[in-house]
Parts: sequence; structure tokens; C-alpha cells
Amino acid sequence: MTPQSSDDARAMSPVPLAPFAERLLVWFASHGRHDLPWQQPRTAYRVWISEVMLQQTQVKTVVPYFERFMQRFPDPASLAAAPLDEVLSLWAGLGYYARARNLHKAAQQMQAQHGGDVPRDFEALLALPGLGRSTAGAILAQAHGARHAILDGNVKRVLARHAAIELWPGLPAASKQLWAISERLLPTTRLADYTQAIMDLGANLCTQRAPACTRCPVSADCEALRTQRVAQLPVARPARLRPLRLASALLVANQQGEILLERRPPSGIWGGLWCPPLLEDGADAAALLADRYGLGQHSATPLPRLRHAFTHFELDLLPLRIELQSIPEALREGGAQRWVKLDGPLPALPAPISKLFQQLLQSTQSSCPEPSIA
Ligand code: ADE
Repeated sequence: MTPQSSDDARAMSPVPLAPFAERLLVWFASHGRHDLPWQQPRTAYRVWISEVMLQQTQVKTVVPYFERFMQRFPDPASLAAAPLDEVLSLWAGLGYYARARNLHKAAQQMQAQHGGDVPRDFEALLALPGLGRSTAGAILAQAHGARHAILDGNVKRVLARHAAIELWPGLPAASKQLWAISERLLPTTRLADYTQAIMDLGANLCTQRAPACTRCPVSADCEALRTQRVAQLPVARPARLRPLRLASALLVANQQGEILLERRPPSGIWGGLWCPPLLEDGADAAALLADRYGLGQHSATPLPRLRHAFTHFELDLLPLRIELQSIPEALREGGAQRWVKLDGPLPALPAPISKLFQQLLQSTQSSCPEPSIA
């Protein structure tokens, strides 16, 4: 009799299935990533920085940022002593800038409370700014081989499929189940390799759009595969849970063609970065320009809008170009304001603003007057 399904194959097979972790580790030896820069040497400091960079960003984007960061800040002491601005400028383009502010603050706490080291204790690590349960577990498992589970986006996808969890993983009930599964599957040894292996499986085989089940080391007992639900799992986030927010970016230009930037307040979107004045949620541009800068009559030209996705909401950014004939006193260069040339040196900008500036620059250099939508 020939097996018709993975169930039949197991029922007929005289060889019991090896544990999940064992199969994953065998696969990892020949198919996993062993040459990531934070693996050599795999110190707690390097793993911490890499894990924070990798929280919302892909490996190939992170690698050059990680290398520049390590050259400039080789240990917690150099990071703690640096001005925040320098940390933010090494972060520019990676997005989610609260991560950089938190790293800086956490390095200072390491100096003050942990003898200048990344703490080895799970609770102490978790208490530092910017570290959640999964990142803290990933750091201790990779740096010290400690037995901690992780549950980042890739691992959620692997486990939600393997156990066929029929709930959106963002729901507390789903998260509880997934954490329990992640803990249960942990091996007792080789935690550093196992942690990297399950992340690699999610990133390279058990991908969102093109899962390679035929090459998967844990397909034999994958419940989603058995029930033909791989493409439907994990359950997608309900659309209404990601609201759309609106903002206008005021591209105030002086007669030299320079654009006004302001430093964003430390918390909120793009906190601490330089940005054109933003008007959130449909506030009135003319009123803001009059109230805040004393600008009277001026022309405002709307440019094509850009959409930017944050984790918890999407932002529709409407650029408005405002040409000034003279600069009021409130807009002379000061601590939180500066005028920049689009082709000149630029401070740390949020990625969509940087994209917008490139489009503006191209449109002024070519005959096409308008930037295209990103
Ligand atoms: N995502 C989070 N941590 C990672 C790691 N160590 N390797 C690859 N992707 C990751």
C-alpha cells in the first residue's frame, strides 16, 4: 500500500518522527545562516544591537547598518557616551526611531546599573527600554545558550502553521497559545543554533507568500500542510485594525530653494528626527502657518500623496509646497529649525521624507514638474 498522506506515511513508518528541534537543527547545519556579522563574534552586545535592528527590518537591510554601528559604537560604554543625534544619524533610513532612542537609553542604564554590560538575567534585560519578551529571549539564547523561547513575526508564522492556529496572531489568546508552543518545542541544548534556525526557517522556507513545504524539515507533522491550510495561515490581521491617519507635510521653501526642517518632539511618530512641519489629522495649514510662524498670504501647491505603513496604522502624507517671498523672524535658523538644500548635507530624516526629497530633487532637475507617488 502506498501512503496517501503524511498521516498514512507516519502510521506505516517504523521510524518514529524525531523531535521538532532535532529536525530543525539538522536542517540548520546545511541550510541555515552561519555567517551573519553578529554571529562572529556572538557577544551579548552585538546580539542585542542586531536583534533590535532586526525587530522591524530585514537582514539584508540591517547588515550595513550593523557594521557601521559597530565601528562607531563597539561597546555599551561608547554608545552610552555618544550624543543621541549621532546615534539617530547612524539609524537614519532604518525607521522606527524609538528603537535608536531606546538603545541609547538602555546603554546608559547598563553603565549605571549593570557594570557596563548587557545583563544576563532575563528580568533585568526585559526591564531595559526597547526590549520585549521575544527580543530578550533571543539575546540570551544566542549570546549565552540560555533556554528561552522567542516569538517574532517569522516564528509566529512557522508555529501558527505547524499547529494550525486559527486566530490572528496579534490577539492575546493566539499569542498565549503560540508562546506555549514555542516553549514546548525548545531543545535542551544548542539554544543559540536553535534560535537562529527557527528564525531562518521562517525567513527562508516558511515564507508568507511562497512557502517551500517540500523542503521543510518539519513538514511531516505540520498541521496546516496536512489540512491544506498553509496559504490561509496565519490568519490575516482584520483590515479595520490598521487605521488610516492623515498628515500634511509643509514643504516651506525660501527664495534660495531651501526647505524648512523642524526637529520632531522626542515622542510620537519620527520622534527626534528632522522633518518638514507636519500637520496631523486634517488640521488647517494656513492657520498653522499664521499662528506658529506669523506667515500671511502665501501660495500652497499640493503634491502627490505618499502612503507609509507603520505597524499599527498607515499614514497618508500629503506634501504641500509653500513658496515664501520673505522669511519672517520666527523662521530664522534656530535650535529646532533649519533650512536645508535638497542636494546638500541632510540630517537624519524619516524614510518617506527622504524619498519625497529625492523625488522633488529629480523633478527640479528634469522637465517633469511633479514627483511621482511612492
Ligand atoms: N530576525 C530577528 N532576529 C534575527 C536573526 N538573528 N537572524 C535573522 N533574522 C532575525
